[in-house]
Amino acid sequence: MYEDNWNAYYEGNYRKLGRKALWDVEPERAVALDQRYFADPFDPGLPVVDLGCGTGEQSAYLRAHYDHVIGVDVATVAVEMAKENHQQEGLGYEFLDATRPDMAEALRARIGESNVYMRGVLHQILPEHLARFQEVLSILMGKRGCCYFNEVSAGIREYFTESSDRFAELPKRMQQVFISNLPPRGLELETVTNFFPSSGFKTTDVRKGKLETNLNFLTGEPIFIPSVQGLVHPA
Ligand SMILES: C[S@@+](CC[C@H](N)C(=O)[O-])C[C@H]1O[C@@H](n2cnc3c(N)ncnc32)[C@H](O)[C@@H]1O
Repeated sequence: MYEDNWNAYYEGNYRKLGRKALWDVEPERAVALDQRYFADPFDPGLPVVDLGCGTGEQSAYLRAHYDHVIGVDVATVAVEMAKENHQQEGLGYEFLDATRPDMAEALRARIGESNVYMRGVLHQILPEHLARFQEVLSILMGKRGCCYFNEVSAGIREYFTESSDRFAELPKRMQQVFISNLPPRGLELETVTNFFPSSGFKTTDVRKGKLETNLNFLTGEPIFIPSVQGLVHPA
C-alpha cells in the first residue's frame, strides 16, 4: 500500500510533470540544519540510514560527513531517481518498507547497527503499523545506534488552513500531497512517546522545529511546515 501510493506520487510529479515535491529542498535548508543536533550523538563509526530518503538529496549530504550512507525508501521510483542523481562510493539507495521488520533484519545483517536520519516520514505511517515501524527502528539501531527525527507536527492541517489566504502557489500542490498520499498525522511534544514508547526507546532533546519547503507565501517569505524534532536512543 505505501509502495503503490508513493510510487504513484513520484511517477506523477517527478517523472511525468517534472515537478519537485514541496519538501524537496537543498540540504543546507534541511539535513545541514538538523546536523547541529545529531552530530554529537551519532557515533561516526556507524553507517547512517536515511529512512524514507525520497530522491536522495539529504542522503548525499550525509555521505560528505559519514563513510557509509544508505538511503532507503518504499517508493522504488524515488530510489531509482536517487541512484541516477547521486553516484558515489559509500552511498547507496535501496528499497525498504519501514513497516517491514524482515527487511530491516536483512539490512542489519549486511551493514550492522546504524544511526538513522528521518525527515518527514513518521507522520505517514498508519497507527496500525506503528508497532512494526518501532520494531524496524530497534533493529536498525541495535544497541549503539541513534535516530534523529524531524517530523511534521499534528498542527499541519490547521497551519495550512489558517494560512491559505497567504499562499502563492500552495493550494494545487498541497492538494496533490494530501490526495496522492496518506493523510498526514503528525507528532506533538506530548505524543512523542506514543511513537517511541519507553519500553524500547529513550527520547532526548525533543523540541518544536520546522521543515523547510520550496514554496513561498505571496509576500515571498518561505513557507515552512511546523515540526517536532529530537533524538531516539535504544532504551
Ligand atoms: C515527505 S517525504 C520526505 C523525503 C525525504 N526524507 C526528504 O526529506 O526529502 C516522505 C518519504 O517517506 C517515504 N515513505 C513513506 N512511507 C514509507 C515506508 N513505509 N517505508 C519507507 N519509506 C516510506 C516516501 O516514499 C517519501 O519518499
